[in-house]
Amino acid sequence: MNLCTVFVTGGAGFIGSALIRLLIAESDWRIVNIDKLTYAGNLESLAMLSDNPRYVFSHTDICDRAMLDRLFIEWQPAGVIHLAAESHVDRSILGPADFIQTNIVGTYTLLEATRAYWSALPEKDKTSFRFHHVSTDEVYGSLCTQELFTEITPYRPNSPYSASKASSDHLARAWQHTYGLPVLITNCSNNYGPYQFPEKLVPLMILNALQGKVLPIYGKGDNVRDWLNVDDHARALHLVFSKGVPGETYNIGGNSEKTNLEVVDTLCNLLDEMQARPDGRSYREQKTFVADRPGHDRRYAIDATKIERDLGWKPQESFTSGMRKTVAWYLANADWIEHVVSGEYRHWLKQNYSNRIAA
Ligand code: NAD
Ligand code: DAU
Repeated sequence: MNLCTVFVTGGAGFIGSALIRLLIAESDWRIVNIDKLTYAGNLESLAMLSDNPRYVFSHTDICDRAMLDRLFIEWQPAGVIHLAAESHVDRSILGPADFIQTNIVGTYTLLEATRAYWSALPEKDKTSFRFHHVSTDEVYGSLCTQELFTEITPYRPNSPYSASKASSDHLARAWQHTYGLPVLITNCSNNYGPYQFPEKLVPLMILNALQGKVLPIYGKGDNVRDWLNVDDHARALHLVFSKGVPGETYNIGGNSEKTNLEVVDTLCNLLDEMQARPDGRSYREQKTFVADRPGHDRRYAIDATKIERDLGWKPQESFTSGMRKTVAWYLANADWIEHVVSGEYRHWLKQNYSNRIAA
């Protein structure tokens, strides 16, 4: 069988694992998951694929050029979907170094390894090759009026995280413009769903609520984010990678703007209904207003007209249905959360993958 191979970087993370589960189910590609397994990388999110012959894991840092070169020679991919990144804004404020290293230097290293491989391809394979860079709406900065981010909104990143992602977007774009590498860029809003590391708002609130801890709300809780189900994002990535036009950027959003307070209240109401507190009171009582995030962006909102018009993508999940399924998933998968929090999955990794890890 002559399989088409696609590299996915950051495939052990929240969105990358959702994408790999989708690609294995809906394409006939072989997927090579290139991941360093930082605190946010968890192969337990892909345990259902561990025996699938179309799934390969490589324990690799995207800053390691020699290792990337070896992978390109070994697997001869038809394209790269690049998600590996440091992704948490609060961590970037506390310590930006890893964000500069992985998001900027790592993307540069991956672009250069890709370019070296791509340049030597036969013309036909060169033309069909794709480098898909996965990015965030945070590169556009913060909105104060009712306007929406479009693909031509100027970049105004405000946090170390968003500045590092903006830098990587510029690098990817420049490699297209200068070298002709067929680059696609997507900028997406806040994702929620299963297997998200419990440092981000949605899983943190669910976990803290169930453990009787405070639900920390930054500032007044009136900052606005646009929420998108992670499986809808994965479907959009599959579509852009397969049908998008090189050199183009596509914004991806859920058309679901909510204040943080609305999100937390929704989660509390769902938990009240699905797993009531033993004392019969509402989880909303655990809400606690805490000091604001420094430089906290006021509002993000996406105009996703282009991807709908050009590629026919629309989110399938509403905020209400998606949040209900998400809460149900976390309630049914307490083990996954427990392992992630305790670091137990690292033992699981050694036990289950010691002879499967390349490198
Ligand atoms: P995540 O933090 O859950 O996962 C990141 C993955 O990258 C982890 O598996 C980690 O081990 C891996 N990684 C980190 N540094 C690496 C390195 N140097 N080499 C190889 N692998 C490395 O992130 P996520 O939330 O799944 O986000 C994935 C991508 O999507 C990121 O590029 C992020 O900027 C972007 N994005 C995220 C969101 C969101 O709401 N989470 C929204 C828009 C865009
Ligand atoms: O917009 C896309 C971005 O969404 C992605 O690029 C990032 O990788 C992803 O982490 C996310 O960034 P945010 O900063 O918006 O997500 P976070 O879940 O950290 O916070 C969402 C909102 O909730 C934000 O306004 C801060 C607030 N918040 C967050 C936490 C963790 C709280 O009020 N309390 C909290 O404890």
